[in-house]
Amino acid sequence: MVTGGGSGIGRSIATRFGEEGATVAIVDVDANGAAETAEMIEQQGANCRWFQSDVSDNSAANEIAEKVIEEFGSVDVLVTAAGISVGKTVPDTQPEEWDQVFSVNVKGTYLWMRAVIPRMTNRGGSIVAIASQLAVSGGISNAAYIASKGAIVSLCRTTANDHAAEGVRVNCILPGATETPLLERSFARFEDPTPYVERSLSRHPLGRFGRPEEVAEAALFLASDNSSFTTGSELRVDGGWIGG
Ligand SMILES: NC(=O)c1ccc[n+]([C@@H]2O[C@H](COP(=O)([O-])OP(=O)(O)OC[C@H]3O[C@@H](n4cnc5c(N)ncnc54)[C@H](O)[C@@H]3O)[C@@H](O)[C@H]2O)c1
Repeated sequence: MVTGGGSGIGRSIATRFGEEGATVAIVDVDANGAAETAEMIEQQGANCRWFQSDVSDNSAANEIAEKVIEEFGSVDVLVTAAGISVGKTVPDTQPEEWDQVFSVNVKGTYLWMRAVIPRMTNRGGSIVAIASQLAVSGGISNAAYIASKGAIVSLCRTTANDHAAEGVRVNCILPGATETPLLERSFARFEDPTPYVERSLSRHPLGRFGRPEEVAEAALFLASDNSSFTTGSELRVDGGWIGG
């Protein structure tokens, strides 16, 4: 199950899983994006179902998880990739914007874990949350987003402890700047994006931004039994990001 599978990192993860022959369920608020990803997966010869839903909708999370189990028998992997950002410093962030970012990024992660974990227990499973390298380094003019990503890291650590004995592993990925529509929109907020693009590039010693497929490889590792002794951890896929 991949939330935010209709674009960018979530799409890359969903199609990478499909390439491995996984049956994939995609959840996204953007029906066109979700349908496009599903088509890509079906073209690879794998099974895919997509659902249009807002990840912050509690009853929808439960209903969709139930439907997927009815149809496919189990949910073995959950990836929470749906996320939004509004930019802005603390004084510039409106309380409604703060709530919106936390609702999608943090509540959307919690609700999907909540819908899936009880359905994973007894058989095990792997949860992979997409946080951000910014949760560690800070960053600028993105207060609500960065705080929400810090919350996701803490949520994963504690959930990993709570459910380790049941065979449910919980890890998160901290991507650096990754070439997706979200990154483009983030830079486009500045009147002159060039200094911000250059500043961001300079933070990545590998000298470029990441590609969503590179995050997908990390997600595949954490989803699979190849990471069977890894839980409560953060995997950085950030080109060697240096802080600030
Ligand atoms: N691109 C980056 O540089 C970068 C870096 C670090 C972390 N991330 C994280 O990776 C994840 C994916 O981001 P991306 O860059 O691929 O962005 P994206 O905008 O390309 O994709 C995000 C997807 O989430 C969906 N979505 C947004 N709000 C939703 C909601 N309420 N309910 C359901 N779906 C919703 C969007 O429709 C979209 O398909 C996000 O959590 C983001 O914070 C991105």
